[in-house]
Amino acid sequence: MARLRDRILALRSKLLSFGVRSKIIGIVIAVVAVFSLGVLVLTRTEMGAGLRERLDELGVVLARDVANQSTTLVLTGDTFDLHELIRQTLDNHRDVRYVFIVDARGQVLGHSFPARVPQGLLALDAPDGGDLPKWRTIRTEEGLIRDVAVPIAGGAAGIVHIGMSEKRSRAAMVKVTTEIAALSLAALCAGAFVAFLLAGLIVRPIFDLRRAARAIAAGDLSVRTPIFAEDETGELCRAFNLMADELQKRREEVTALEKRLRAENIYLREELAATTRYEYIVGANPKLMNILAAVDKAARTDSTVLVLGESGTGKELIARALHERSPRGSNTLIKVNCAAIPPGLIESELFGHEKGAFTGAVKTHMGKFELAHGSTLFLDEIADLSPEAQAKLLQFLQDSVFTRVGGNEPIKVDVRVVAATNRDLALAVNEGRFRLDLYHRIKVIELTLPPLRERLDDVPALAFHFLRNCLEKIPSEVEAISEEALALLCSYHWPGNIRELENVIERAVVLCRGKTIMADHLPAELRTRAAPPVQSASGSNGRPTLANAIRAEKIRRVKAALAEAGGNRARAARLLGIDRSNLTRLMKSLGI
Ligand SMILES: Nc1ncnc2c1ncn2[C@@H]1O[C@H](COP(=O)(O)OP(=O)(O)OP(=O)(O)O)[C@@H](O)[C@H]1O
Ligand SMILES: [Mg+2]
Repeated sequence: MARLRDRILALRSKLLSFGVRSKIIGIVIAVVAVFSLGVLVLTRTEMGAGLRERLDELGVVLARDVANQSTTLVLTGDTFDLHELIRQTLDNHRDVRYVFIVDARGQVLGHSFPARVPQGLLALDAPDGGDLPKWRTIRTEEGLIRDVAVPIAGGAAGIVHIGMSEKRSRAAMVKVTTEIAALSLAALCAGAFVAFLLAGLIVRPIFDLRRAARAIAAGDLSVRTPIFAEDETGELCRAFNLMADELQKRREEVTALEKRLRAENIYLREELAATTRYEYIVGANPKLMNILAAVDKAARTDSTVLVLGESGTGKELIARALHERSPRGSNTLIKVNCAAIPPGLIESELFGHEKGAFTGAVKTHMGKFELAHGSTLFLDEIADLSPEAQAKLLQFLQDSVFTRVGGNEPIKVDVRVVAATNRDLALAVNEGRFRLDLYHRIKVIELTLPPLRERLDDVPALAFHFLRNCLEKIPSEVEAISEEALALLCSYHWPGNIRELENVIERAVVLCRGKTIMADHLPAELRTRAAPPVQSASGSNGRPTLANAIRAEKIRRVKAALAEAGGNRARAARLLGIDRSNLTRLMKSLGI
């Protein structure tokens, strides 16, 4: 039962999977076929019954006629005329196959057979009495024969048997059936043809819709469907066209918006680059400016860069600026602090390892070089690189290929290397801790950041920068730095460089309860220790004066206002709270 249901379901889904046109044609053909078959069966049944009835009636009429004519002949024993009567009956009627007459005792008085009456026919029962005829069907080699037996003189004189052949009737029936079948077939073909045309008409809008939907899915929104009639399909096509119109309109809007956004984005990026370029790198000291100019140039190349400088001078900041200004800037800068990773692991960290390369290498690991593909790899504290890693790094810098630890397959990546250290690399080379060939390879471009004590003129700008940063993180009332505190900041020798200054400002903000950072809020060493003499361009005695510090801050503020005003001097002046003419004069005096 379940199998039958499954089969029915499978058949149903197969039928449903046919196209609409096939379904319509199939249904019309099925209807015409069933109808024609019904007509055929009905005709055959009705006609068969009618023909048999007519044959039986004809048989009775003939038999009675023979019985009437033969009554006297049988009684008088006139066998000659009896035979003549039988012959005439046979000759005159094409459906009659035989005639024979038997007397009341069953003796054959006359017959139409060539020899004698077959025994089977003689054994047939006599009519039940009276004048009533009796019919029987006899199967012969020629086909079915209806035997009609009619009593002569109520049975007293004998019985007339006439064999009526169904052959002619059947032939007529077959002819009629064939004609009906031919007609049905013609009707079926005509029906299929009409169904085909009709289905074409009905299905055409559906085909059009399907074609249009496919075109839209492929991205062509200009396609529409023709409307042939004002019926349901016409309504459907109209709705579809409206939808396509709307879709096209929206896409055009989106495209226009996208174009505008892209242009706006490019513009904003350029603006941002122009106004905030290195904004996060505070300072106007010529040494820093030279470094930034070098960064600009180096950013356009793929050469390896070595950033040198004491701890806290901003090496990482410069490395980031270099990366961001380079064409690789949209990708993430990958940073590795060589000093923070145990020597045994650094090689695998940088170049990755194959599964099973060493104990604990349970799966293949992708190193930072692979990760940095298309970007920049910043190797901080490069002086701490293990000898194995140094050898591999050298190989990479020469051929741009490397192999994972425990692997043989060379891997090629596009990585720009920027290295940094606060150590004396030349000394490390002399002491044999760093490879000379690698040293030469990584210092293709060398940038040495000045310590803060050599750019004390940038201290006020940096101090205010860190103060602002601090106030964003720490809730405080602090608004300013007193002149005395600023003077102390500008006269310190900053062994920890900019990082130290950053920490000092943060500490002062935490300690300060008022609106101004005073000298008291600074660490004791700043208040007690005088800065050692430094060679600085900022002060006449080699040390930056307060005036110089204030000048640097002025430069920073003017630049920031100009950047914020998009280069518009009038707006920048308003932002600074001075006249436009004053701003021009100020810019001139500051050399902006
Ligand atoms: N010119 C600058 N303007 C603003 N902030 C700066 C500048 N230079 C450095 N800094 C800040 O000083 C801190 C120290 O900088 P950075 O980490 O780049 O120094 P470094 O030379 O890499 O130090 P180290 O050798 O100890 O790693 C950072 O918070 C950085 O943002
Ligand atoms: Mg660093």
